[in-house]
Amino acid sequence: MVKEEQEKKLSLKREDFGKDFKWGVSTAAYQIEGSHQADGKGPSIWDIFTAKRGKIYQAHNGNIACDFYNKYEEDLYLMKDLNIHNFRFSISWSRVIPAGVGVPNPEGIDFYNKLIDKCLALDIEPWVTLYHWDLPAALEQKGGWTNREIISWFKDYVTLCVQCFGDRVKNWMVLNEPLVFVGAGYFLGVHAPGKRGMKNFLPAIHHAALCQAEGARIIKQYYPLAKVGTTFSCSFIEPSRPIQKDIMAAQRIDALVNRLFIEPALGMGYPVEDLKFLKKMEKYQLPGDKALLQFDFDFIGVQNYTREIIKHSWFVPYIKARNIKAEKRKVPITAMKWEIYPDSIYQMLKKFNSYKKVRDIYVTENGAAFKDIIEDGRINDKRRTNYLKGYLKAVLQAKKEGMNVKGYFVWSFTDNFEWAEGFRPRFGLVHVDYQTQKRTIKASGKWYSNFLRNQVK
Ligand code: BGC
Repeated sequence: MVKEEQEKKLSLKREDFGKDFKWGVSTAAYQIEGSHQADGKGPSIWDIFTAKRGKIYQAHNGNIACDFYNKYEEDLYLMKDLNIHNFRFSISWSRVIPAGVGVPNPEGIDFYNKLIDKCLALDIEPWVTLYHWDLPAALEQKGGWTNREIISWFKDYVTLCVQCFGDRVKNWMVLNEPLVFVGAGYFLGVHAPGKRGMKNFLPAIHHAALCQAEGARIIKQYYPLAKVGTTFSCSFIEPSRPIQKDIMAAQRIDALVNRLFIEPALGMGYPVEDLKFLKKMEKYQLPGDKALLQFDFDFIGVQNYTREIIKHSWFVPYIKARNIKAEKRKVPITAMKWEIYPDSIYQMLKKFNSYKKVRDIYVTENGAAFKDIIEDGRINDKRRTNYLKGYLKAVLQAKKEGMNVKGYFVWSFTDNFEWAEGFRPRFGLVHVDYQTQKRTIKASGKWYSNFLRNQVK
């Protein structure tokens, strides 16, 4: 395709999405804040995990990260300058309750009060995630997500957050991507706390699913008018070949990746038919749990980056399926080696929209990591801009077809700590020099800003 045609294909206007559509950026506490021991903060499982040898790319950690704890005002001014009026961030549980349960930390609470107040003063709407993976380390010592007591610890934590911030925060997300933190943290052991196996995975799934609903109920109890959501990672899943074995394998992966947490919340139970190993979860279930798993969320946060191509495999335990790496398929990829495939976001919106009980949908994360090159103080990250435009076109298509998608948040505002991958992958609209903490707006950030300029909010 010639260059102009390609440009034309990607051209889009903010007004096409309607004036009420929310535009924002997303972040998470551990990935940006730093100040991991400041002002009475307790350690989280990520402070512990990153200190272990061999867990994180080049032994990076979030001790300083983007120094957002000290630079939040500067970053919010920059956000406003870029015409971004919705900011999704998470609260660090061990900053506000250092031991996870018990005595709150006034200085930690004060930080989020100042952050929220500054957002509001700058006409930036705060969108708060209650749990973005940084469990207080003291709770992990008692079993963390594998211990059913987490329900009461989590309820106390949510109660404190709602009591402290609920007068000003109108949009809440209970969990960030439960499958990722229970899968990577309690089955594969590649994320904190580094636990493995079904005996950890199954109870962690069930307790996270219960907390998802219990946390939401608490917010509504205090603020019935608050908008309460939760967020899911999701990938468009396709079989490698049109043969029964691969189709069934893809169906199992789809149940695991895309249905495991939404369906119990909708009252449909876990997708046990497609994932037989979930039967063993009965052991962790108590009478009455099915009802407790349900909550009528105001919105669902859909977080999509890519698609997966799935093949049957006898060798993979439980799931009998494996994905064919994008690199091997010779398709365009990002620095995470994830396939660039805009249609995946359209397919995911369609999938979530097809559940009758799902109300509003927000894309609470979408974005791409690329190797950014600074030339003469500038970063011309055309690939990121094209990625965003391509995915936004797919979101627009979904909206035009009547799907209930109400907003879009780029992951992420600045480059940040990308978990086990350390600081290597850069997802930001704004570049961070981790030596000096200097922020440089990338061409993609300028593009997003221009795109948003026409209308305020
Ligand atoms: C997570 C973020 C993460 C991003 C890119 C999502 O899975 O919520 O914390 O940085 O994807 O990998």
